[in-house]
Amino acid sequence: VSGCKIGLSILSSDLANLGAECVQMLDSGADYLHLDVMDRHFVPYITFGHPVVESLRKQLGQDPFFDMHMMVSRPEQWVKSKVVAGANQYTYHLEATESPGALIKDIRENGMKVGLAIKPGTTVEYLAPWANQIDMALVMTVEPGFGGQKFMEGMMPKVHWLRTQFPTLDIEADGGVGPDTVHKCAEAGANMIVSGSAIMSEAPRAVINLLRNVCSEA
Ligand code: DX5
Ligand code: ZN
Repeated sequence: VSGCKIGLSILSSDLANLGAECVQMLDSGADYLHLDVMDRHFVPYITFGHPVVESLRKQLGQDPFFDMHMMVSRPEQWVKSKVVAGANQYTYHLEATESPGALIKDIRENGMKVGLAIKPGTTVEYLAPWANQIDMALVMTVEPGFGGQKFMEGMMPKVHWLRTQFPTLDIEADGGVGPDTVHKCAEAGANMIVSGSAIMSEAPRAVINLLRNVCSEA
Protein backbone atom coordinates (compact mmCIF):
# COMPACT_ATOMS: atom_id res chain seq x y z
CA VAL A 1 0.00 0.00 0.00
CA SER A 2 1.29 3.49 -0.82
CA GLY A 3 2.23 5.83 2.04
CA CYS A 4 -0.16 8.21 3.73
CA LYS A 5 -1.87 10.71 1.45
CA ILE A 6 -3.98 13.70 2.50
CA GLY A 7 -6.91 14.55 0.22
CA LEU A 8 -8.74 17.85 0.38
CA SER A 9 -12.53 17.63 0.22
CA ILE A 10 -13.50 20.79 -1.63
CA LEU A 11 -17.08 20.69 -0.27
CA SER A 12 -16.14 23.15 2.48
CA SER A 13 -14.47 25.55 0.05
CA ASP A 14 -15.88 28.91 -0.92
CA LEU A 15 -17.40 27.50 -4.11
CA ALA A 16 -17.44 30.97 -5.65
CA ASN A 17 -13.66 30.97 -5.29
CA LEU A 18 -13.01 27.29 -5.87
CA GLY A 19 -10.08 27.43 -8.26
CA ALA A 20 -8.01 29.80 -6.15
CA GLU A 21 -8.78 27.79 -2.99
CA CYS A 22 -7.70 24.55 -4.65
CA VAL A 23 -4.44 26.18 -5.80
CA GLN A 24 -3.84 27.37 -2.24
CA MET A 25 -4.58 23.94 -0.73
CA LEU A 26 -2.34 22.12 -3.20
CA ASP A 27 0.42 24.67 -2.55
CA SER A 28 -0.15 24.01 1.17
CA GLY A 29 0.70 20.36 0.65
CA ALA A 30 -2.58 18.51 -0.08
CA ASP A 31 -1.66 15.34 -1.99
CA TYR A 32 -4.90 15.17 -4.00
CA LEU A 33 -8.33 16.73 -4.46
CA HIS A 34 -11.40 14.82 -3.29
CA LEU A 35 -14.33 16.10 -5.36
CA ASP A 36 -17.73 15.41 -3.78
CA VAL A 37 -20.35 15.00 -6.51
CA MET A 38 -23.97 14.78 -5.27
CA ASP A 39 -27.12 14.40 -7.36
CA ARG A 40 -29.90 15.15 -4.80
CA HIS A 41 -31.11 11.59 -5.37
CA PHE A 42 -28.59 9.21 -3.84
CA VAL A 43 -28.13 11.87 -1.15
CA PRO A 44 -30.61 14.72 -0.50
CA TYR A 45 -28.05 17.33 -1.58
CA ILE A 46 -26.64 18.60 -4.86
CA THR A 47 -23.14 19.94 -5.45
CA PHE A 48 -21.49 20.05 -8.90
CA GLY A 49 -20.86 17.94 -11.98
CA HIS A 50 -18.33 17.55 -14.76
CA PRO A 51 -18.39 21.20 -15.99
CA VAL A 52 -16.84 22.24 -12.67
CA VAL A 53 -14.33 19.39 -12.82
CA GLU A 54 -13.38 20.41 -16.37
CA SER A 55 -12.81 24.03 -15.29
CA LEU A 56 -10.74 22.94 -12.31
CA ARG A 57 -8.59 20.69 -14.52
CA LYS A 58 -8.01 23.60 -16.94
CA GLN A 59 -6.99 25.93 -14.12
CA LEU A 60 -4.90 23.45 -12.10
CA GLY A 61 -3.12 21.72 -14.97
CA GLN A 62 -2.63 17.98 -15.48
CA ASP A 63 -0.73 17.14 -12.28
CA PRO A 64 -3.22 17.24 -9.38
CA PHE A 65 -4.95 13.91 -8.72
CA PHE A 66 -8.76 14.23 -8.84
CA ASP A 67 -10.52 11.62 -6.71
CA MET A 68 -14.20 11.83 -7.70
CA HIS A 69 -16.45 10.83 -4.80
CA MET A 70 -19.64 10.03 -6.70
CA MET A 71 -22.56 10.22 -4.26
CA VAL A 72 -24.96 9.60 -7.12
CA SER A 73 -27.53 7.02 -8.17
CA ARG A 74 -26.73 4.94 -11.26
CA PRO A 75 -23.00 5.91 -11.23
CA GLU A 76 -22.66 4.03 -14.55
CA GLN A 77 -24.09 7.05 -16.33
CA TRP A 78 -21.29 9.49 -15.51
CA VAL A 79 -18.12 7.55 -16.24
CA LYS A 80 -17.46 8.96 -19.72
CA SER A 81 -18.15 12.57 -18.76
CA LYS A 82 -15.85 12.43 -15.78
CA VAL A 83 -12.89 11.05 -17.67
CA VAL A 84 -13.38 13.75 -20.32
CA ALA A 85 -13.47 16.31 -17.54
CA GLY A 86 -10.09 15.15 -16.25
CA ALA A 87 -10.85 12.82 -13.32
CA ASN A 88 -8.16 10.35 -12.24
CA GLN A 89 -10.14 8.11 -9.92
CA TYR A 90 -13.85 7.29 -10.01
CA THR A 91 -15.13 6.36 -6.56
CA TYR A 92 -18.73 5.15 -6.58
CA HIS A 93 -21.04 3.78 -3.87
CA LEU A 94 -21.67 0.06 -3.59
CA GLU A 95 -25.25 0.95 -2.54
CA ALA A 96 -25.86 2.81 -5.81
CA THR A 97 -25.41 0.07 -8.41
CA GLU A 98 -26.65 -3.43 -9.19
CA SER A 99 -23.50 -4.28 -11.10
CA PRO A 100 -20.32 -3.20 -9.28
CA GLY A 101 -18.21 -5.57 -11.40
CA ALA A 102 -19.33 -4.16 -14.76
CA LEU A 103 -18.73 -0.64 -13.51
CA ILE A 104 -15.20 -1.51 -12.37
CA LYS A 105 -14.48 -2.72 -15.91
CA ASP A 106 -15.99 0.40 -17.53
CA ILE A 107 -14.02 2.76 -15.28
CA ARG A 108 -10.77 0.96 -16.07
CA GLU A 109 -11.51 0.91 -19.80
CA ASN A 110 -11.88 4.68 -19.49
CA GLY A 111 -8.42 4.96 -17.99
CA MET A 112 -9.37 5.87 -14.42
CA LYS A 113 -8.56 4.23 -11.09
CA VAL A 114 -11.47 2.58 -9.28
CA GLY A 115 -12.71 3.53 -5.81
CA LEU A 116 -15.58 1.75 -4.08
CA ALA A 117 -17.36 3.50 -1.19
CA ILE A 118 -19.70 2.33 1.58
CA LYS A 119 -22.01 4.42 3.72
CA PRO A 120 -22.00 4.09 7.52
CA GLY A 121 -24.98 1.71 7.43
CA THR A 122 -23.38 -0.73 4.98
CA THR A 123 -21.61 -3.86 6.23
CA VAL A 124 -17.95 -3.82 5.23
CA GLU A 125 -17.96 -7.50 4.20
CA TYR A 126 -20.08 -6.54 1.17
CA LEU A 127 -16.89 -5.03 -0.30
CA ALA A 128 -15.04 -8.36 -0.14
CA PRO A 129 -16.04 -9.72 -3.60
CA TRP A 130 -14.65 -6.57 -5.27
CA ALA A 131 -11.72 -5.66 -3.01
CA ASN A 132 -9.11 -7.39 -5.18
CA GLN A 133 -10.37 -5.65 -8.34
CA ILE A 134 -10.40 -2.04 -7.08
CA ASP A 135 -7.66 0.49 -6.30
CA MET A 136 -9.24 2.00 -3.20
CA ALA A 137 -12.01 1.38 -0.67
CA LEU A 138 -13.70 4.47 0.83
CA VAL A 139 -15.13 4.00 4.34
CA MET A 140 -17.51 6.88 5.05
CA THR A 141 -17.09 8.18 8.59
CA VAL A 142 -20.15 10.46 8.30
CA GLU A 143 -23.52 10.10 6.58
CA PRO A 144 -22.84 11.36 3.03
CA GLY A 145 -24.31 14.78 2.29
CA PHE A 146 -22.20 17.65 3.57
CA GLY A 147 -18.97 18.66 5.27
CA GLY A 148 -18.39 19.65 8.88
CA GLN A 149 -20.13 16.63 10.47
CA LYS A 150 -18.91 14.70 13.53
CA PHE A 151 -16.53 11.78 12.97
CA MET A 152 -18.17 8.36 13.48
CA GLU A 153 -15.58 6.37 15.45
CA GLY A 154 -17.78 3.26 15.14
CA MET A 155 -16.61 2.97 11.52
CA MET A 156 -13.03 2.15 12.51
CA PRO A 157 -13.60 -1.64 12.78
CA LYS A 158 -14.53 -1.56 9.09
CA VAL A 159 -11.18 0.06 8.25
CA HIS A 160 -9.36 -2.46 10.43
CA TRP A 161 -11.16 -5.40 8.84
CA LEU A 162 -10.28 -4.18 5.35
CA ARG A 163 -6.63 -3.59 6.30
CA THR A 164 -6.23 -7.09 7.74
CA GLN A 165 -8.04 -8.79 4.84
CA PHE A 166 -6.46 -6.70 2.04
CA PRO A 167 -3.03 -5.45 3.23
CA THR A 168 -2.12 -3.73 -0.06
CA LEU A 169 -5.48 -2.02 -0.69
CA ASP A 170 -5.65 1.78 -0.44
CA ILE A 171 -8.20 2.58 2.26
CA GLU A 172 -9.68 6.06 2.48
CA ALA A 173 -11.41 7.56 5.52
CA ASP A 174 -13.81 10.35 4.63
CA GLY A 175 -15.88 12.60 6.88
CA GLY A 176 -15.13 14.48 10.07
CA VAL A 177 -11.42 13.71 9.93
CA GLY A 178 -9.12 16.31 11.49
CA PRO A 179 -6.30 16.68 14.02
CA ASP A 180 -8.38 15.07 16.81
CA THR A 181 -9.54 12.05 14.82
CA VAL A 182 -6.86 11.25 12.22
CA HIS A 183 -4.92 8.99 14.64
CA LYS A 184 -7.99 6.72 14.95
CA CYS A 185 -8.15 6.34 11.16
CA ALA A 186 -4.41 5.70 10.89
CA GLU A 187 -4.33 3.17 13.76
CA ALA A 188 -7.21 1.29 12.12
CA GLY A 189 -5.22 1.13 8.86
CA ALA A 190 -6.41 3.97 6.61
CA ASN A 191 -3.68 5.38 4.36
CA MET A 192 -5.73 7.97 2.45
CA ILE A 193 -7.18 10.69 4.66
CA VAL A 194 -9.84 13.05 3.33
CA SER A 195 -10.33 16.26 5.24
CA GLY A 196 -12.38 19.35 4.40
CA SER A 197 -13.54 21.69 7.13
CA ALA A 198 -10.59 20.86 9.42
CA ILE A 199 -8.13 22.04 6.77
CA MET A 200 -10.15 24.97 5.44
CA SER A 201 -10.68 26.54 8.85
CA GLU A 202 -7.05 26.96 10.03
CA ALA A 203 -3.55 27.40 8.66
CA PRO A 204 -3.88 24.73 5.97
CA ARG A 205 -0.20 23.80 5.72
CA ALA A 206 0.12 23.16 9.45
CA VAL A 207 -3.02 21.02 9.54
CA ILE A 208 -2.08 19.05 6.41
CA ASN A 209 1.41 18.36 7.81
CA LEU A 210 -0.06 17.27 11.13
CA LEU A 211 -2.53 14.90 9.43
CA ARG A 212 0.23 13.37 7.32
CA ASN A 213 2.67 13.00 10.22
CA VAL A 214 0.11 11.35 12.49
CA CYS A 215 -0.99 9.04 9.68
CA SER A 216 2.58 8.10 8.72
CA GLU A 217 3.60 7.38 12.32
CA ALA A 218 0.74 4.98 13.03
C1 DX5 B 1 -19.49 14.13 2.84
C2 DX5 B 1 -18.28 14.12 1.90
C3 DX5 B 1 -16.98 14.30 2.62
C4 DX5 B 1 -16.94 15.60 3.44
C5 DX5 B 1 -15.61 15.72 4.17
O1 DX5 B 1 -20.62 13.67 2.17
O2 DX5 B 1 -18.22 12.91 1.19
O3 DX5 B 1 -15.91 14.28 1.67
O4 DX5 B 1 -17.12 16.70 2.58
O5 DX5 B 1 -15.57 17.01 4.76
P1 DX5 B 1 -15.27 17.16 6.34
O6 DX5 B 1 -13.81 16.80 6.50
O7 DX5 B 1 -15.54 18.62 6.60
O8 DX5 B 1 -16.17 16.22 7.05
ZN1 ZN C 1 -16.34 12.59 0.12
